[in-house]
Amino acid sequence: MLEIKNIKKAFGNKHVLNGFNLELYEGENVVIMGKSGSGKSVMIKCLVGLMQPDSGSIKIMDKDIATLNQKDLDDLRTEIGFLFQGSALYDSMTVRENLEFPLRRHKHKFGDVVDTNQLVEEALENVGLLHTIELMPAELSGGMQRRVALARALILRPKIILYDEPTSGLDPITAKEIVDLMRRVQRLYQTSSIIITHDIDCARVVSERIVLLVDGVDYARGTFEELAASDDGKIQAFFK
Ligand SMILES: Nc1ncnc2c1ncn2[C@@H]1O[C@H](COP(=O)(O)OP(=O)(O)OP(=O)(O)O)[C@@H](O)[C@H]1O
Ligand SMILES: [Mg+2]
Repeated sequence: MLEIKNIKKAFGNKHVLNGFNLELYEGENVVIMGKSGSGKSVMIKCLVGLMQPDSGSIKIMDKDIATLNQKDLDDLRTEIGFLFQGSALYDSMTVRENLEFPLRRHKHKFGDVVDTNQLVEEALENVGLLHTIELMPAELSGGMQRRVALARALILRPKIILYDEPTSGLDPITAKEIVDLMRRVQRLYQTSSIIITHDIDCARVVSERIVLLVDGVDYARGTFEELAASDDGKIQAFFK
């Protein structure tokens, strides 16, 4: 679904990514773990074209994103759902308007026949929040905002979903609801996902594989059980 090869990214003399590699296969969830400030968000911004890496290549569904023109990049973006760190809903728009926003921008994806209302309602129903459709984000709890943001990320029926800290700032019960929802989405839509998280419970439940980002590189990869059993100190630090 996706291949990152040897990307590097520096800000001034600060080398954040230093030859990072990642592959995502169809239908799998890959969790990326790394310390705060290690470059996880930078990596994901490079993936969606919000930032350009200094070198290296990124292929999404066999297309090298550096060679795409604006239209092809826009089309490719409809295949990728992005759940930003925080929920990043538009505060001045209702839940309905938040979900309509990507539909309006990319309406050509579904042709003319699509019923916008039906898509919005279906997306909200999937996250159990149809009853919030006319509310403002400020009227929702943190966990509900996160679920609406997930509904918005799903509305274009992406093949790949990128989650940046989907459970941060939530209590353990709400965090578990989000994790269950992520699994449900994976089953329902056969999506592949990259999930950035510090949350070890989330990583265990949601991942087929884990990649550890340490010192700007993909330091280790494996299943939760494989990595947890490692006696490498840098790997162990994540599982303590
Ligand atoms: N636009 C930018 N300009 C300059 N430096 C930046 C920029 N974006 C990120 N950085 C730096 O790159 C480093 C990695 O940032 P990044 O946001 O990717 O960390 P992270 O791994 O996502 O951390 P966290 O777990 O706290 O979210 C940080 O030192 C940050 O200050
Ligand atoms: Mg981050």
